[in-house]
Amino acid sequence: MVQVQGETLSDYVIETSDLVKSYGPHVALDSVSLKITPGATGLLGPNGAGKSTMFKSLLGLIGITSGQGKVFDLDIRTQGPAIRQRIGYMPEYECLNPGIDAIHQVAYSGELLGMNPVVSMQRAHEVLEYVGLREQRYREIGTFSTGMRQAAKLATALIHDPDLIIADEPTNGLDTTARDFMLNTLEQTVTIGQSSLLMASHLMDDVERICNRIVMLHKGKLIAQGKIEDLKAIDQEIEIHSWGHSSDLEVELKNRGYNVRRTGRVMRIVKKDENSHNDILGAAAKTGSQIRRMQDHEASLEDLFIVIMEKLGYSIKSSSDLLASGPSARKVDAPLEMKEAGI
Ligand SMILES: Nc1ncnc2c1ncn2[C@@H]1O[C@H](COP(=O)(O)OP(=O)(O)OP(=O)(O)O)[C@@H](O)[C@H]1O
Ligand SMILES: [Mg+2]
Repeated sequence: MVQVQGETLSDYVIETSDLVKSYGPHVALDSVSLKITPGATGLLGPNGAGKSTMFKSLLGLIGITSGQGKVFDLDIRTQGPAIRQRIGYMPEYECLNPGIDAIHQVAYSGELLGMNPVVSMQRAHEVLEYVGLREQRYREIGTFSTGMRQAAKLATALIHDPDLIIADEPTNGLDTTARDFMLNTLEQTVTIGQSSLLMASHLMDDVERICNRIVMLHKGKLIAQGKIEDLKAIDQEIEIHSWGHSSDLEVELKNRGYNVRRTGRVMRIVKKDENSHNDILGAAAKTGSQIRRMQDHEASLEDLFIVIMEKLGYSIKSSSDLLASGPSARKVDAPLEMKEAGI
């Protein structure tokens, strides 16, 4: 078949349909259909959700069980090497040799990707400067701090000027300064360098700071994807501060069909329609509760995560309950439709 360059290529950097990856009987990715556009996307999900498995599948490093996947229109089943030429991968595990200096490690990664040794060495100097390791480039990696090792990992990912960076928990274990530097560098690579970024993180702030889209996985299933601002708009909340009869007001609002989250006198009520503000005032008048403040709540990514997880039947107070410390959150009864969907 003859193709005119650009004409039939998709607008997506990554596209999968019904992608399944099983490890023996364990289904790590369960019929995932992703569409990721250029730019910065955060990949969220509790431990064991399938994030790293997704990355390895996209890179063509592990064989998928069924379904389809394309990165830059290249098939993940058959074109792994060509895909890896265009992706800079920062894995979650230690991938650097502690016994060699940073400059040779980074140059070697370029050579592994097929770069000419002279060009690769020249480029290694540039990327190490870019990630803030100019002074330390002749030091053995074994002497590096965690922040410096993460920066060196980023340098190896950037050596071939990739079109897409896949970063698995890039700020893990970093202190505030190193974390800020890592995020700023990744952000610059997207905004100035015009690369796309797919970043797994358990820190909502990190994702919100540099990504405008998210993909959320849970037990191998895709549970949300899209622009953060669009996803936030699905469940807009009204925040009220009530005084007196707060429990009665909460019950009345629930009777009126509102989803209410209450912490003391502060309640967040999921807006139903344009009449919701009046309806809330009516409920307060009926129960004798005073409303001292009412405002549309400016949702954060943290709020969005909690709302989505509540829909899946998890009772969590913060994302760290699920993301940072493992699946320790208290599971309450999942809604019927989710049980039926096997989520
Ligand atoms: N090589 C393997 N063999 C068998 N099971 C595996 C293998 N790799 C991953 N798994 C399982 O697949 C599931 C998804 O694992 P994966 O590492 O992709 O999750 P993750 O979202 O990256 O988790 P984390 O946040 O802990 O890094 C887990 O249940 C894990 O135990
Ligand atoms: Mg992982």
